[in-house]
Amino acid sequence: MTISLKVNGTTRTTPAAPDTPLLYVLRNDLELNGAKFGCGLAQCGACTVLVDGKPTRSCVTQIGTLGNSEVTTLEGLGSIDKPHALQQAFIEEQAAQCGYCTNGMIMTAKELLDRNPKPSEQDVRTALAGNLCRCGTHNRIIRAVMRAAQANGRT
Ligand code: FES
Ligand code: FES
Repeated sequence: MTISLKVNGTTRTTPAAPDTPLLYVLRNDLELNGAKFGCGLAQCGACTVLVDGKPTRSCVTQIGTLGNSEVTTLEGLGSIDKPHALQQAFIEEQAAQCGYCTNGMIMTAKELLDRNPKPSEQDVRTALAGNLCRCGTHNRIIRAVMRAAQANGRT
């Protein structure tokens, strides 16, 4: 038996069991490696994807619960040739050290900018408070999200 998932606008299938975490399917079956395995316990945010536009911890999301929901991963935001404003801003601010948290920071910030295109710095800090960065890159990450918000305003 296979399960169908809507990922980045395309229907994908997997032979994985319904209780398999979405993160495993994305990385192991669909070759979408943007989302990272950090804690596996919904604690760190490294595995964040959007499910129907909402930041979701894919390490604890069983694929059998998704139904027709739209999953968006980091790969669905932009490409190397055409990066999303957030991806571009993270590059320009050099907002990564090891980069392990970057996926979760960008995906969580994407939802923030979708609902609040002109966030204050405090809005950004609040939105990202549940995403852990063990490298201490927080200030650059905040700057990158603010830069992306300004870039969106110019386009
Ligand atoms: S790996 Fe999912 S929250 Fe840490
Ligand atoms: S850059 Fe290493 S965990 Fe954030």
